[in-house]
Amino acid sequence: MPATMRAAVHTRFGPPEVVSVRDVPVPTPGDGELLVAVHATTVNRTDHHYRSCSPFPMRAIAGWTRPKSTVLGNEFAGIVETVGPGVQTVAVDERVFGYCEGRFGAHAEHLVVRAAGNVAAIPDGLSFTEAAPGTEGAHYALTHLERAGVAKGDAVLVYGATGAIGSAAVQLAARHLGAAVTAVCATPHLELARSLGAERVIDYTAEDFTRDDARYDVVFDAHGSPAYRRCARLLRPGGRFTSAGAGPYAQNLLWPVVTRLVGDKRAVFATPRIDQAMVRLLADLMASGAYRPVVDRTYPLEEIVAAYRYVATGQKVGNVVITVTER
Ligand SMILES: NC(=O)c1ccc[n+]([C@@H]2O[C@H](COP(=O)([O-])OP(=O)(O)OC[C@H]3O[C@@H](n4cnc5c(N)ncnc54)[C@H](OP(=O)(O)O)[C@@H]3O)[C@@H](O)[C@H]2O)c1
Repeated sequence: MPATMRAAVHTRFGPPEVVSVRDVPVPTPGDGELLVAVHATTVNRTDHHYRSCSPFPMRAIAGWTRPKSTVLGNEFAGIVETVGPGVQTVAVDERVFGYCEGRFGAHAEHLVVRAAGNVAAIPDGLSFTEAAPGTEGAHYALTHLERAGVAKGDAVLVYGATGAIGSAAVQLAARHLGAAVTAVCATPHLELARSLGAERVIDYTAEDFTRDDARYDVVFDAHGSPAYRRCARLLRPGGRFTSAGAGPYAQNLLWPVVTRLVGDKRAVFATPRIDQAMVRLLADLMASGAYRPVVDRTYPLEEIVAAYRYVATGQKVGNVVITVTER
């Protein structure tokens, strides 16, 4: 194996152009770790936030003056190349995928991950490109749907239904949890939303979805823009609102407290979580066809700056995949 590998590196926060592809040392797996030859990864909103370090409070986790993680990338799909001491659950040559926010490093030809971490076997028949975007949007979506207590037969409205989180949420709510989903998106994406399992679609460019006559058990704002107050009238008594964002004035953080004290509708706050069991569940759902990550565009690693520019538009549909081929 060569001593160096190609990786997308940034040593300061800023626009997509702070990232460049260069040679860096190949990492070495330690106890309980795997060295994965990365075949595909993604550029997602999490990478975008860590790279730009915007909004400012991101500095508390991404680094106060310079990036803690100089190689980003939190989703990966590839082949296990070597295993560190003590690894018995994963074998060399196994095809794996997973999620590594915090450690990052997937925007590179090789990546070290914990064998007991957020990693699972890629289901047979799924390519690296299909598997790589399987975890980021889906774990946010599943955390929110579970926190809001979505149950079989519930009426669920998903706003922002074709982003990474929204497109996963529509599928997981409809096909995994058995809810009746109404998807809110723009005109060009109505058919996509239906194909993901939405029973009803609302075009937010043609009508104000908050004036909808239907009432819902759960409203999930997967885009992170309309705050609880605008959506509250859509909820049935006992209904729950959850959002992927804090709201324009961070009010979605306050509403869970307020609605605990007054009224018969609740805003809930979901803290995203992911573990190996969740990655395995997502693998099973991908194998059964209940969940398939939506892939919008694919870029080679050498063109990752263009991928970042596209993600920064806020208009990607589902996921942006980066293909990584070893030199
Ligand atoms: N909590 C966290 O740590 C965390 C992590 C990742 C992301 N997030 C947040 O979660 C939100 C969604 O993330 P994501 O990765 O799913 O985003 P994304 O993939 O970038 O979302 C893109 C989608 O947003 C839709 N959209 C654009 N403008 C819209 C508008 N004004 N109203 C409704 N939909 C609009 C577009 O579809 P249409 O054209 O059909 O509307 C597009 O398909 C973002 O606010 C992001 O910052 C939070």
